[in-house]
Amino acid sequence: MRRPQRGGSKLREQLSNHDKKGEAVEHRESIHGEWSSRWVFVLAAAGSAVGLGNIWKFPYIAGENGGGAFVLVYLLCIALVGIPIMMAEVLLGRRGRRSPINTLRFLTQEGHHHPAWEYLGWAGVVAGFLILSYYSVIAGWALSYLVWHITGTFQGIDAAGAQQFFADLTGSPERLLAWHTIFMVMTTLVVARGVRSGLEQAVRVMMPALFVLLLVLVGYAATTGHFGEGLAFLFTPDFHRLSGNSVLIALGHAFFTLSLGMGAIMVYGSYMPHGASISRSTLMIAGADTLVALLAGMAIFPVVFANGLEPGAGPGLLFQTLPLAFGQMPWGSLFGALFFLLVTFAAWTSAISLVEPTVAWLVENHGFTRAWAALATGLAAWVLGLATIFSFNIGADWTLFAHCQIEAGVEVCSGGKTAFDLLDYLTSNIMLPLGGLVIALFAGWVMQRRLVQEELRLYGKGFEVWYFVLRYLSPVAMIVVFLGAIGIL
Ligand code: PHE
Repeated sequence: MRRPQRGGSKLREQLSNHDKKGEAVEHRESIHGEWSSRWVFVLAAAGSAVGLGNIWKFPYIAGENGGGAFVLVYLLCIALVGIPIMMAEVLLGRRGRRSPINTLRFLTQEGHHHPAWEYLGWAGVVAGFLILSYYSVIAGWALSYLVWHITGTFQGIDAAGAQQFFADLTGSPERLLAWHTIFMVMTTLVVARGVRSGLEQAVRVMMPALFVLLLVLVGYAATTGHFGEGLAFLFTPDFHRLSGNSVLIALGHAFFTLSLGMGAIMVYGSYMPHGASISRSTLMIAGADTLVALLAGMAIFPVVFANGLEPGAGPGLLFQTLPLAFGQMPWGSLFGALFFLLVTFAAWTSAISLVEPTVAWLVENHGFTRAWAALATGLAAWVLGLATIFSFNIGADWTLFAHCQIEAGVEVCSGGKTAFDLLDYLTSNIMLPLGGLVIALFAGWVMQRRLVQEELRLYGKGFEVWYFVLRYLSPVAMIVVFLGAIGIL
């Protein structure tokens, strides 16, 4: 990134300039700097989007929600809701050129709108912080698997053995805490130093490498003799298996996987060069993200079926299946180590974007240096991460919303949600889609059409179609999904 001057004074000056003249200052640049080109924006945003959501979460929620029909709904959500809202989020960021909180403040002042829209920025900061707290714990699992592959632990392992390794890891709060701490320190360090060329360079190499390795894994999956079964599970829709709640999970995941609804993409948009095309960049980011998720599913499910495992195994799915594949293929330890290195890296570039909106705001409004802002945010999320750590061991039965019945005089409860389940459900399925809905309403109904079009630089039919989808289709689809999930429809 190029960095112009630092500090909050330029921001205050811009805000007051703007007040005096009553119009926007054109061609502004963020005080935090700007990506060196459109490509760097695409890479950084793809780095944010492609993460644990694609490789860890997508396969296991597809497995839990019955496969094909869920995948189809997820793809529809990406196309009809995710992509249009991503364009809106980037354009708000680029117009505001500030942290999401200040961008919303600026845009509401610019258009003399109600100040309540500013809460969107605040909700995003809270959501990012909640997500980071558990994201870091799961990324810690990937780190631990990286080390296990380096030491050749999984050579020739069977399904029961792989499950045991996972159970031992998640059963130990000390080990989870150690890996969570390492990952949080990694994230804080990069954010503290700024999203500089080191990271840009690394993303350039790591992203294509991840892609190639996924192809290798899909190639291996094709040799298991259960490839067809895996593909049929992922791509043959059976709508009987789809509940209202599954549809909400698919919608929530579309937001989660594209990093939408909490300001991560907005803040990256605020560092985007002025002339770059938002619509083309967005299509590339969403396309890459979807491809990675589908490849991960195609690599995992054949292994699941070949080893008689359960597709609905939950959050451990990736970690219980891929070691089997790596344990059996030639050069497995090497490929396994490389794969988990890339997963760690993908998680790292996503975690950074979860903190960036908060850090940018602390720097702008509270005179923090980047380093202190990163430390404060990282530390707070690290502490909250304990709730997720304990969800897998000593706190596994500290649950809410369990269904309890009396069976033979004894109360039996099931389906309770742990702290991790609650954090995940609240952020992905409620906060991010609501954030996205507010973004759609703000860009589609509140901001002046002229300003929106000017920032998007999209004219003719393309603009009309996008604008219609953003104003009507996306919000209505989201409201229908919400109502469906709470059982009203
Ligand atoms: N998109 C990231 C993933 O798929 C997670 C994320 C969500 C990152 C929200 C930033 C904001 O792993």
